[in-house]
Amino acid sequence: MSAAEKVQRADNLTLDTIVSLCKRRGIIFPGSDIYGGLGGTFDYGPIGAELKRNIRDAWWRANVYERDDIEGLDATILMNPRTWEASGHVDTFTDPLCDSLGPSKKRYRADQLFEEEITAYEFVDVTDGEPTPIVGAKLWAPTKKKAKEFYKQYWEKHLNLEGRRVKIEEIAGSAKTAKYSPDDGGELTEPRAFNLMLTTHVGPVVESAAQVYLRPETAQGIFVNFSNVQSSMRRKVPFGIAQIGKSFRNEITPRNFIFRTREFEQMEIEFFCKPGHLCKEGEWTDEQWHEHWVESRMNWYYRYGIAKENLRLRNQAADELAHYSKACGDIEYLFPIGWQELEGIANRTDYDLKRHMEFSGKDLSYFDPEMNERYVPYVIEPSAGADRSLLAFVCDAYTVEKVRDDKRVVLKLHKDLAPVKCAVFPLLKNRPELVEMARNLARDLKKEFYTVYDDTAAIGKLYRRQDEIGTPYCITVDVDSLEDQAVTIRDRDSMEQVRIGLDKVKDYLLAELKKE
Ligand code: GAP
Repeated sequence: MSAAEKVQRADNLTLDTIVSLCKRRGIIFPGSDIYGGLGGTFDYGPIGAELKRNIRDAWWRANVYERDDIEGLDATILMNPRTWEASGHVDTFTDPLCDSLGPSKKRYRADQLFEEEITAYEFVDVTDGEPTPIVGAKLWAPTKKKAKEFYKQYWEKHLNLEGRRVKIEEIAGSAKTAKYSPDDGGELTEPRAFNLMLTTHVGPVVESAAQVYLRPETAQGIFVNFSNVQSSMRRKVPFGIAQIGKSFRNEITPRNFIFRTREFEQMEIEFFCKPGHLCKEGEWTDEQWHEHWVESRMNWYYRYGIAKENLRLRNQAADELAHYSKACGDIEYLFPIGWQELEGIANRTDYDLKRHMEFSGKDLSYFDPEMNERYVPYVIEPSAGADRSLLAFVCDAYTVEKVRDDKRVVLKLHKDLAPVKCAVFPLLKNRPELVEMARNLARDLKKEFYTVYDDTAAIGKLYRRQDEIGTPYCITVDVDSLEDQAVTIRDRDSMEQVRIGLDKVKDYLLAELKKE
């Protein structure tokens, strides 16, 4: 049996555990922290920035470098506003928003609230013996206990009843099945459409003519460049365009750490293919390309370490589909908050290119030299979130192991994703020869991969620190190293140690880091 006995992986993991690890170890901090934050924004610390970068690189490598049918692109965040009229975002990129009429005045996405059997309660002031109903104080709750909680948290302060005695009474015959504020039991306003696009202005004058949007998806930058890329790179359909970049959405209820934020990063491909009805025998239809991409994207998550049992595919029902799509497969991950979308793979048909043709007046059709005719390609769109992927990779890698009488937390990240590849420690920091040898080794390794030198704690603590950020290899320079010119390399997962000559360390690590 290995030195370590695994006692926990994501099963009983909570999001709070991940949030605290991320803050403690320099992975993710709340945005604008010293000013009290800004809702729905997070900053990536030194370790998180490296991890996200490795995720982006892994995605780019698998989709752009390892395939021969994809080109890369880096389009702007600010685009001509007509883009968003054509894409349908100005008219339809909305969430139904409602407000609590109770004292919390909280705002909700109506589609995220559930109907429940509820009853109306009123508050009666009984301080002076004579019960007097308090005007305007009525709330809805599934139970009296819940009504009391709402009262304690919001209504008592709002009604300014300090020192008064209040009874909570059910209003007979009021039971109904409806939505209500889960914070204060208040009634809700009628839902109204709230556009999720954030705006800013270009030029020196803040006027509506100068208003532009911060892109809510990277996809449209690809569509408007379809012809540019196709002709400059002499591409034949089928081929795709890949892009990674920031997107912005004024989410009404950003929540669950980096799962839903207002500023996030997307990794999107628009894959242009021949519409099924034009395909000859043996040519892949848009539906077959869709299946291909679903499989390819599932495999990418497996390749980088997501456990099979934590990933699933869910095909969207007809009434869930976005206005532009004919089918959509959602790749879902079992986050600590439950099964949630990680990536959507939609068949967008020719909707986008046709809309841009209509709004721009430019011909975006493709001349197929084999058919000797023009058509507007269909589009398969694998659309992933870099931040959500990062959260999934961290949750999946999070492991607690029992080591003798102690326990250790270790992020068993895929080596390609691990932020730091190697850490070098001198066993004794008061021996200048050891420090110098360790520093020289770290300096040399830095030329190949991200290596850190650390001598700020005892060796056991240094190991734990690196385990928590998923560093695959730790090297210790000890007193014997001065004699034998060799060092000890410890493997993160097995915790086994090997003694390697100083001159072989680099090649050893390069070979180990390459192993799948
Ligand atoms: N172009 C299609 C599109 O944008 P989407 O389902 O709205 O589709 C794709 O977004 C992916 O982007 C999601 O699966 C998710 O990973 C990520 N994403 C979307 N909104 C997000 C948000 N507010 N915060 C973090 N990630 C988000």
